[in-house]
Amino acid sequence: MPDRLLVFYGSYRSDRLGIRLANYIVTGLRRRGAEAELVDAKEVALPMLDRMYKEYPKGAAPPPMEALAEKIRRTDGFVFVTGEYNWGPQPGLKNLTDHYLEEWFWRPAAIASYSAGRFSGVRSGTVWHGILSEMGMIVVSSTLAVGPIAQMLDAESRPIGDGGKALDQSFRRFADDLAWWTEAAREQRARRAPPY
Ligand SMILES: Cc1cc2nc3c(=O)[nH]c(=O)nc-3n(C[C@H](O)[C@H](O)[C@H](O)COP(=O)(O)O)c2cc1C
Repeated sequence: MPDRLLVFYGSYRSDRLGIRLANYIVTGLRRRGAEAELVDAKEVALPMLDRMYKEYPKGAAPPPMEALAEKIRRTDGFVFVTGEYNWGPQPGLKNLTDHYLEEWFWRPAAIASYSAGRFSGVRSGTVWHGILSEMGMIVVSSTLAVGPIAQMLDAESRPIGDGGKALDQSFRRFADDLAWWTEAAREQRARRAPPY
């Protein structure tokens, strides 16, 4: 059974660069045989958080929120692609994730950070680690750190130069790690119902 994976990305900027990394990861996961799909927070366009998904009466959540809840529930594992704004997470992605809670439970998540500079967004990636744990995901230990992103991926998300080669190498381990936990969590959920 192929792993069903969602790749989340959340910059709302017109000239955003992180979409290169998000698309690179989706393509790489598909090449490995996974059913991977991009969730672009800007495209989903949830409002600034008012009610969480679960606070709506059944069937009354706005259609894009309902559709994403269903997608998350069907998924075996997640990748969060995060840039860094002033040492912290990008608000668009954080806003999207905060709409859900139980929908995330009992699945692994991997973090891929990037930035325009050499710190590769790792400060934001570190913050996301705690956020995803709080939301019931098992955060895998392998990470991707991409920076300067424009020197590692071109506009079509193709790896370039030595940085691109290094990215391809670290992607293998990142994807192996996520795949191992994805399978483990899926099988465990099938063997024994989660305790809550
Ligand atoms: C509001 C803002 C704050 C930023 N803060 C940081 C930062 O703290 N660290 C960093 O490495 N880059 C920072 N940058 C540069 C980003 O790494 C760069 O703009 C990157 O392309 C943002 O991701 P995006 O293009 O997907 O929106 C910041 C950019 C913006 C717009």
